[in-house]
Amino acid sequence: MENTNHLTEGDINFSAERIKWDEQMNDPKTRQILDDDARYFLHQSMSSPCLDVLVNCKGSEMQTLSGRKMLDFHGNNVHQLGYGNDFVIEQISEQLQKLSFSPRRYTNQPAVELAKKLAGLLPGDLNRSLFAPGGTSAVGMALKLARVVTGKHKLVALWDSFHGASLDAIAAGGEAVFKQHLGPLMQGVFHIPPPTMYRGIFGDTENDQLKYADYLEYVIEKEGDIGAFLIETIRNTDVQIPTMAYWKRVREICTKHGVLLILDEIPIALGRTGKMFAFEHFGIEPDIICLGKGLGGGMIPFAAIVARDSYNIAKDVSLGHYTHEKSPLGSVAALATLNFLEKENILHKVADDEQFMRKELFRMKAQFPLIGDIRGIGLLWGLELVKNRETKEKASLEAEIIMYDCMRQGLSFKISHGNVLQLSPALTISRDDLQMATSILAAALTKCTSATQ
Ligand SMILES: Cc1ncc(COP(=O)(O)O)c(C=O)c1O
Repeated sequence: MENTNHLTEGDINFSAERIKWDEQMNDPKTRQILDDDARYFLHQSMSSPCLDVLVNCKGSEMQTLSGRKMLDFHGNNVHQLGYGNDFVIEQISEQLQKLSFSPRRYTNQPAVELAKKLAGLLPGDLNRSLFAPGGTSAVGMALKLARVVTGKHKLVALWDSFHGASLDAIAAGGEAVFKQHLGPLMQGVFHIPPPTMYRGIFGDTENDQLKYADYLEYVIEKEGDIGAFLIETIRNTDVQIPTMAYWKRVREICTKHGVLLILDEIPIALGRTGKMFAFEHFGIEPDIICLGKGLGGGMIPFAAIVARDSYNIAKDVSLGHYTHEKSPLGSVAALATLNFLEKENILHKVADDEQFMRKELFRMKAQFPLIGDIRGIGLLWGLELVKNRETKEKASLEAEIIMYDCMRQGLSFKISHGNVLQLSPALTISRDDLQMATSILAAALTKCTSATQ
């Protein structure tokens, strides 16, 4: 039987379409760098050969060494403010002149200001932060803190989920591609089905959503000593948006059983969904939230957890202990990002852009049978391509053909789960650029549809 593990997180580096793409990279300087990259880096899944060589990227646009320009609708989710946001650069540059690194055991003003700012933005008693150099580390810290707070090491997480690629994070994650060949993992993780409304194992209707929540309670009751439930509030890669009823029920279950609700909002907080934090859409609060990616302004690797005040009980435990913990540069980048989102009223803009995207994409769905499902919120959209709307057979080859065609025409994005086109532009993108992107996508869908008819 064919191993399809690789068709999960992202488009892959050894498909026929990727090889074709690589073969047309014949600008001599570009070719040299791509070859050197492939020669001197360790290869891993979803890496070499790289797609292209980037040079000048600004705002929503990437520019390659050979002069190709593309709107970036992936941005690895660090691009809430796009590339090279001037306000963030200015603040980081100023900070670089003063204090560029803060060794552990000392603190600094930007780090404290950021912790205060996060406490002010988050509801209730979510006011205790810990910073780290990356999202995976933040997830690890959250898991450790949950063990300390509850005295229980067991965890529930979702199949299909991703929370980082370290050994602890892949144990929590639910994708085989990240675990294969890597031997024994952290014990005590129980996976349950994700609350999807397309190909969901418990059904796809709004009412079925409660079955996914009820199954959480079933596992908690059967297992008896679960300490935490780790979940993305909205699944970023293939854009799965649970219902309000699901979230209310999950919150109730966690509270009832003393299970900490850890929300991983690493790729989707800070305005991506039209709210500062995605959980605000659902009228719930987490016990611990993980932030990262765009928290560093798209420039500095930086992440954080924020937890309830009463969880400040681990003074003799090493939760993070990262060298760059209270990074003044990361803190300044995060403060600049949050301030920019506020001063430019970006959340309001994203809510407007959501309406535009909804109209454009649903028009495409009416036109192209290849589109089986469209899911989205704010500036986070997923188009699930199928060969047949009844059978929902995945149109993975078509997804790749469309992706590479769009890249040739100036639009870059990522494929998730083999057949989901994930669209997440910079939140600062202009309406003209959004329009251009949807036109490129529609043209690629037309071409692909007529080629396969
Ligand atoms: C939901 C989620 N959690 C955690 C991570 C890990 O973040 P990082 O790559 O910054 O370690 C990612 C990265 O893609 C993610 O999407």
